[in-house]
Amino acid sequence: MNKVLVVGGGGRCHAIVETMCKSAFVSQVYCAPGNAGIAEIATCVPIKDTDIDALLEFAEKKDIDLTIVGPEAALAAGIVDAFQAAGRKIFGPTKAATIIESSKDFAKELMDKYNVPTAGYQTFDSYEKAVEYVRGGSFPTVLKYDGLAAGKGVVIAENLAEAESALKDMLLDDKFGHGKVVIEEFLEGPEFSLMCFVNGDKVYPMPVAQDHKRAFDGDKGPNTGGMGAYTPLPFISKDDIDYAMEKIMKPVAAAMVAEGRPFCGVLYGGLMKTPSGIKVIEFNARFGDPETEVVLPRLQCDFYCLITDILDGFTPVIEWEDCATLGVVLASKGYPGSYEKGYAIEGFTKVETPLYHMGTAVSKGDLVTSGGRVMMVVAKGEDLAEARDKVYKEIKKLKCKNLFYRKDIGHWAF
Ligand code: AMP
Ligand code: GLY
Repeated sequence: MNKVLVVGGGGRCHAIVETMCKSAFVSQVYCAPGNAGIAEIATCVPIKDTDIDALLEFAEKKDIDLTIVGPEAALAAGIVDAFQAAGRKIFGPTKAATIIESSKDFAKELMDKYNVPTAGYQTFDSYEKAVEYVRGGSFPTVLKYDGLAAGKGVVIAENLAEAESALKDMLLDDKFGHGKVVIEEFLEGPEFSLMCFVNGDKVYPMPVAQDHKRAFDGDKGPNTGGMGAYTPLPFISKDDIDYAMEKIMKPVAAAMVAEGRPFCGVLYGGLMKTPSGIKVIEFNARFGDPETEVVLPRLQCDFYCLITDILDGFTPVIEWEDCATLGVVLASKGYPGSYEKGYAIEGFTKVETPLYHMGTAVSKGDLVTSGGRVMMVVAKGEDLAEARDKVYKEIKKLKCKNLFYRKDIGHWAF
């Protein structure tokens, strides 16, 4: 029997831990640092997800057989390199491969070089040159900070004033750190997430899902880390998926090998179905959040075997349940801006569908809010309408004074 360590603590890790707990080959799951929900099904270890030395020491001490990494910060900090150097099995990309997510400029150059369809772009490190460029272009225009910014480093500027203000934040005031800005052509069409299990040039797709990045109904308001997700997607055909696999995901995995940065882990394609074909919006080097919370509940095969087969170079058997899943995030009022923490959450024991904790804590015996995104309620159905109706019924059982959620998750599908 095997011991698994999951690094991270949000809803994505809750879903990973839950799926690992179902494996017939796993006797114990640890999660560092985990959260209040994960603590109910696994052993949480109070180590920060970026404290690589302490995580490795823990893995050595417990003789962990497999480590899986959730958040990008740990990957970008080199957790995989450290574990590999110590001979510990770990599923995730090295620091050199994580750059596909941690630098938008790298990702754009790679796509350019290998003819992968994406929006046209220019990169700037000078505020003046960037402003001059947007003055000569059309609106809306898309400004992306070239580094990790927790999903908040992208601004869609509708006019010059908005563009100047965002460029000032990113290039003069170093709001996300000192760095460059990628200015991109604005594309239109439904977005979808295609996550793939990857080892080198071997690429195995998961079912496509759709995230809802804007804070409010009707896809209005600021970008967030994700307010809900669902799968499957009626507007993405099998041909679309084949195209995305053959023209985007497989060529990019092969390109990373050719560039001397072989990718192992989950390669997340944030894609858009535009009138001129499917194009890349972004890549992530990890499981998506909140997509993982709706995709993994459909996994029917053994998760531990799947991951270790991929790591060991065997062809994995991957089976997905033929059903729909839909999940809605409950977030603290004010998110993605500033918000208060510590509000009691009641009624959660009555929820009958999967409930993933994102930012919760236990204070004096009560479950309380402790993050921007707090929980995600997910339901399965024979179709999306059934899954949606179940989720919104279950959500009503949760009582908390400081939470809000979107009422229209899945609207692209109906
Ligand atoms: P990203 O972090 O790159 O995924 O961007 C966050 C969100 O901004 C995306 O999910 C899109 O909704 C939007 N976005 C990013 N790039 C573009 C683009 N070139 N055209 C239109 N919308 C975009
Ligand atoms: N759902 C978007 C992300 O994981 O970055």
